[in-house]
Amino acid sequence: MKTLLDTLKEAEANKVAVGHFNISDLAALKAIVAAATELRVPIMIGTSEGEREFIGEYQAAALIKSLREEFDYPIFLNADHTHSLEKVKIAAEAGYDEILFDGGRLPLEENIKQTKQAVELSKSINPAVYVEGELGYIGSSSEIISGIPEGAAVETAQLTTAEEAARFVKETGVDFLAPAVGNLHGMLKDVPNPRLDIGRIREIKEAAGIPMVLHGGSGTSDEDFVAAIDAGMNVIHINTEIRLAWRKGIEAGLRNNPDEIAPYKIFPEAVAAVQAVVEARLKLFNKIGTLPSAK
Ligand code: G3H
Ligand code: ZN
Repeated sequence: MKTLLDTLKEAEANKVAVGHFNISDLAALKAIVAAATELRVPIMIGTSEGEREFIGEYQAAALIKSLREEFDYPIFLNADHTHSLEKVKIAAEAGYDEILFDGGRLPLEENIKQTKQAVELSKSINPAVYVEGELGYIGSSSEIISGIPEGAAVETAQLTTAEEAARFVKETGVDFLAPAVGNLHGMLKDVPNPRLDIGRIREIKEAAGIPMVLHGGSGTSDEDFVAAIDAGMNVIHINTEIRLAWRKGIEAGLRNNPDEIAPYKIFPEAVAAVQAVVEARLKLFNKIGTLPSAK
């Protein structure tokens, strides 16, 4: 079985990106796995601190491990947006494949200090676990938002620079890097999300020299996704779009079955709605059904 790093290197070589999708429940997991296995592409499943508090770290790790081993399928679990060493420890002990230590809101020096501690702690518990670091603040909620979150980097002068990225990677020892390049967590209510700075992604990739992760994928245009992958993004995170599809699916399930009380007869509409979103994103990220570019 390939490791997560092998999988990301392969994606890089093929100029595609691995889709990372967050879950809070089995309906979303079922939908994501169905979409991925149908398209035969690797995937990552993420649980934020709130999502894993609901599911349970050990339960999430056991679920993903059983899917990977039973079907010999490249599916990996990430402890998404982990803010404390205490939570890093739990995720590493529970058997997560990756831990994202999120010091993105901290001043650079403090972010480097805490992320380095997170790398050392994670690897002392499980030398095989990968650690991702976050550089720059891009908001924190996978929700429909009414404006740019306070303090989020959207102007060119606020985005992660290549120099910061090179220093951060060297001094922390992270395996993967999540920079702020115009991406934003959540989807703006009435207007499109900001555009990505593709030139900046390219510069950071060259300076960092490690796999890169694009957070805040929901609401990004197809055009920006394709350009971001070409510029060096290897993983793309989607959450808000899944949550929205899940909610609409649950509402349809209840509306269409007003007297039903069996959850498994109500959930299929949520599964179908999430599956459709994930399938479309995976096709785009993996360049399935598109002609190779003429370049
Ligand atoms: O880590 C999670 C992602 O970055 C999700 O962002 O909700 O904007 O898709 P999103
Ligand atoms: Zn994120």
